Amino acid sequence: MNAIEIRDLTKNFGEKQAVCGLDMTVPMGAIYGFIGENGSGKSTTEKIVCGLIHASGGSVRLYGRPHTDSDVRARLGVLIEAPGCYPSLTVWDNMMLQAENLALPDAESAVVATLKAVRMEGAAGNKYKNCSLGMKQRVGIAMALLGDPLLLVLDEPQNGLDADGMRIMREVFLDIVKDGKRSIVISSHLLGELQKVATHYGIIRHGKMLVEMTAAELDASCRTFVALQSGDMRKTKALLCEKYARVEEDEAGYLRVYDAVTPEQIVKYLYEKGVCVTEIKTDKIGLEEYYIDLMKGGK
Ligand SMILES: Nc1ncnc2c1ncn2[C@@H]1O[C@H](COP(=O)(O)OP(=O)(O)OP(=O)(O)O)[C@@H](O)[C@H]1O
Ligand SMILES: [Mg+2]
Repeated sequence: MNAIEIRDLTKNFGEKQAVCGLDMTVPMGAIYGFIGENGSGKSTTEKIVCGLIHASGGSVRLYGRPHTDSDVRARLGVLIEAPGCYPSLTVWDNMMLQAENLALPDAESAVVATLKAVRMEGAAGNKYKNCSLGMKQRVGIAMALLGDPLLLVLDEPQNGLDADGMRIMREVFLDIVKDGKRSIVISSHLLGELQKVATHYGIIRHGKMLVEMTAAELDASCRTFVALQSGDMRKTKALLCEKYARVEEDEAGYLRVYDAVTPEQIVKYLYEKGVCVTEIKTDKIGLEEYYIDLMKGGK
């Protein structure tokens, strides 16, 4: 059974078609990275899934049931935009209010457990308005986790987090899905960060799903390259460009050769031309570069 099955989804805002015939499948237990440029329809799709807005057409099924089904809706955790918190109340009081709204049988234990899950147990007494951006994001996740959701839908949850906050968030996500029943959809522009946790990806463009794939499929389709540095990068670049078809300089100052060639062949070739390679390695492009390639290709 899939956590989410969307078929032929459309959403119009007046003349504007925000989502146009979108198909999307999120398997149970997945951390699904939902990617696309600004305005491509990610938040709109997520809002429809969570019942915050109505679709213009198409179907959405959650755990095999229509997404309007009240039992299914009760097992949904959502963080889209900012959490609905009262600024002057403490984190604890905000959480307790939410727990009471959800009519949780043991609100206090649920709040303690969820604050612990997002490593916020030490900050429960802080007023929400005095929380840092990263803390607010974590309170948002904690709110979404109350009620033990089967499906979490998080719109850009990593925004504003520092390196430690990102690491904690990764641990939290992996914890949530570890039993294989719960699933998370994360829309994000932080592709390097997303790649560290996502098991599946969906890339949306102009309201349509461009490609869906597993992390293993992404890995298999990512191009490999040889990256190197030498004492004379200008000469090295000229020599490599003479012999190989695809040579690029990356942001870290390495020259990359994407042709099917081994590091040994490159070292030998450059040595014969009087260039000494100081460092060489093989690597693969990541999600970010795959995504940029895909967008450039305009497929
Ligand atoms: N309430 C609304 N009324 C009119 N147009 C809207 C509304 N909500 C979204 N849109 C439009 O729908 C399109 C998709 O917006 P959406 O917020 O889903 O994009 P997104 O993929 O989440 O983008 P971002 O990465 O910037 O968050 C955009 O063109 C947006 O302007
Ligand atoms: Mg959005």
